[in-house]
Amino acid sequence: MADIGTVRPLWWEDDAICIVDQRLLPEHYRVRRLGDVESVREAIATLAVRGAPAIGIAGAFGVYLGMRSLEGDDWDRRLGEVAEFLASARPTAVNLSWAVNRVVEVGRRTRNTQALLDAALTIWEEDRRLCHRIGEFGAPLLEACTAVLTHCNAGALGTSEWGTALAPIYALQSRGKILHVYADETRPLWQGARLTAWELSQAGIPVTVIPDSAAAVVLRQGRVQAVVVGADRIASNGDTANKIGTYGLAVLARHHHIPFYVAAPFSTFDLSLSCGAEIPIEERSPEELVFAGGRRIVPEGAAVWNPAFDVTPAEYITAFITDRGVIPPPYPEQIAKRIRPEI
Ligand code: MRU
Repeated sequence: MADIGTVRPLWWEDDAICIVDQRLLPEHYRVRRLGDVESVREAIATLAVRGAPAIGIAGAFGVYLGMRSLEGDDWDRRLGEVAEFLASARPTAVNLSWAVNRVVEVGRRTRNTQALLDAALTIWEEDRRLCHRIGEFGAPLLEACTAVLTHCNAGALGTSEWGTALAPIYALQSRGKILHVYADETRPLWQGARLTAWELSQAGIPVTVIPDSAAAVVLRQGRVQAVVVGADRIASNGDTANKIGTYGLAVLARHHHIPFYVAAPFSTFDLSLSCGAEIPIEERSPEELVFAGGRRIVPEGAAVWNPAFDVTPAEYITAFITDRGVIPPPYPEQIAKRIRPEI
């Protein structure tokens, strides 16, 4: 069994990003070295590295990798191209463009590659701190629970360590309190079954994987006392984009009078957007739905729609668990008060 929080999806070593290729888990634990900006973008786009904070960290290092061999007058133009190249890999999680832009700003100011690397290292280290703070702020909310339900993977694998939705669970574990976690399998890419169940098992936390369609019964039977999920982008009114299926879960939680918490660092809030309708939603290849386990499961000729995220209206969210504390409604006011763009 791993120590609490030792599962890490990525780290910096020998002038390259090392990632655990999440497409291969849980069958294979394989580390890949990403030594250039092209392979960083490809890893983000194909979900070899995934989860909003983790793709932000990868993107931040990607800016350095895209700039490290450059000298001369082309600096500003190249910096803009690298930023656009990386930030366009996935549109929904604002953490990606947030982290890339933060490194780019340092680049514009310093025109120095070492400063780019230092900025990326700072974002990586900072994320670890933010996740632990989310854990500490969230733990009291879940302390009285025996079990919780989560969707997708908003754990260590989606961040630097501990995660967002799973951080309070790790925080409680570090105090000797073990919660049982129900994990939605999370179609069509199975982040709940493959990743959440894997990392919780590594940490010795009991986990039960359910079909997404069993969530309603789990809630009705009172098997869990709270739902806790992560986020990819939160508008200033609290509307929240997260993995497809989150919205349905929030509606179910409301129907069954079960609290629905969204856990995220300040960098997932996009205060430039007034509401969720403005959040760009990634649509992924139909292939992800058409084939399962190497078999075609959708007949030729049938249309397929594969949105990767949905937006949960703020009214369904009991509270946000952030590194700045727990944010209760009313949201536009409370979010504006607690979330500031700078750390
Ligand atoms: O498509 P993914 O696997 O990157 O989607 C991830 C999620 O929706 C997570 O809930 C979110 O990014 C938070 S990760 C701490």
